[in-house]
Amino acid sequence: MKVVVIGGTGLIGSNVVARLGEHGHEAVAAAPSTGVDTITGEGLAEAVRDADALVDVSNSPSFADDDVLAFFRTSTANLVAAAKGSGVGHYVALSVVGAERAPDSGYLRAKVAQEELVRASGLPFSLVRATQFFEFAGGVADATADGVVTLPGGGVQPVAAADVAAVVARTSVGAPVNGVVEVGGPEVFGMDAWIRTVLRARDDRREVVGDPEARYFGTLLDEKTLLPGSDALVGPTRLEEWLAG
Ligand SMILES: NC(=O)c1ccc[n+]([C@@H]2O[C@H](COP(=O)([O-])OP(=O)(O)OC[C@H]3O[C@@H](n4cnc5c(N)ncnc54)[C@H](OP(=O)(O)O)[C@@H]3O)[C@@H](O)[C@H]2O)c1
Repeated sequence: MKVVVIGGTGLIGSNVVARLGEHGHEAVAAAPSTGVDTITGEGLAEAVRDADALVDVSNSPSFADDDVLAFFRTSTANLVAAAKGSGVGHYVALSVVGAERAPDSGYLRAKVAQEELVRASGLPFSLVRATQFFEFAGGVADATADGVVTLPGGGVQPVAAADVAAVVARTSVGAPVNGVVEVGGPEVFGMDAWIRTVLRARDDRREVVGDPEARYFGTLLDEKTLLPGSDALVGPTRLEEWLAG
C-alpha cells in the first residue's frame, strides 16, 4: 500500500514511516522539511497522489490557543480536500484521549475541532486517540511556572511514542473503523507522580508539587479526564523500562 504520512518527520511520524517500510509498504514522509506544507498547500496534491491511505500525525508549531486552533482547522480542511481529490480510501488522524472532556485547554479544543472535520469529511476514517507520550513529560514540566512544577494529581496513563506509532501504522493499513481507537500505556499514575518520576530519573532537580487546583495546559483534571476507556489498546512498554532504555 502507499501511505502518505503527514508529519512524517516528527516523533510519531518518523516511527510510523519506518514501521510501514519494514512491512513492505510505500510510506511517504510529508512535512515542510520535505516540501509539503498543509497550511500553504505546497506539495500536498503531489504527496497524496495515488495514496491508499493518509495518516495525519502533524502538530502545530505554536501551542498558543488561537494558533493551534487555526493550524488544525486549516491543515485538516486542506488535507481533507487533497484526500478527496486523489481518491484516498482511508484517512487516519492521531488525537488525544479525553480531549472532549477538557474544553478549557486550547490545545485540546483544537484537537476536537480536528476530529470533527475528519468525521464530517465523508471520507472513510479512523481516529486514533492516544494518552500522553512518555516523551512529552519534559514538555508538561516546562509548561508550568519556572522553578517549581505544580501539577494536579489527576490520573494519567502515559504511553511510549513507539507503541502509539505501532497502533497508528497498523490502523493505516487496516480497514477504516469510522470511529475511534484508543491507546494508552500499561500503568496509571497521578500526573504529578509521573512527572516527578521522569524528572528524578533525568536528574532534573525541579521540585514537583501536587495541587488538585493546578491546571494542566489550562484545564482542571479529575481522576478520569485523561484516562482511556476499558476497551483501549494497551502499549506494552512500562515507564521504568522506557526510562532505562
Ligand atoms: N504529545 C503527546 O503526549 C500526544 C498525545 C496524544 C496525541 N498527540 C498527537 O500526536 C501528534 C504528533 O505529535 P508528535 O509529538 O509526533 O509531533 P512532532 O514531533 O512535533 O512532529 C510534528 C510534525 O508535524 C510537521 N508539521 C508541522 N507543520 C506542518 C505543516 N504546516 N504541514 C505539514 N507538516 C507539518 C513537522 O514537520 P517538520 O519536521 O518539517 O517541522 C513534524 O513532522 C499530534 O497531532 C499530537 O496532537 C500527542
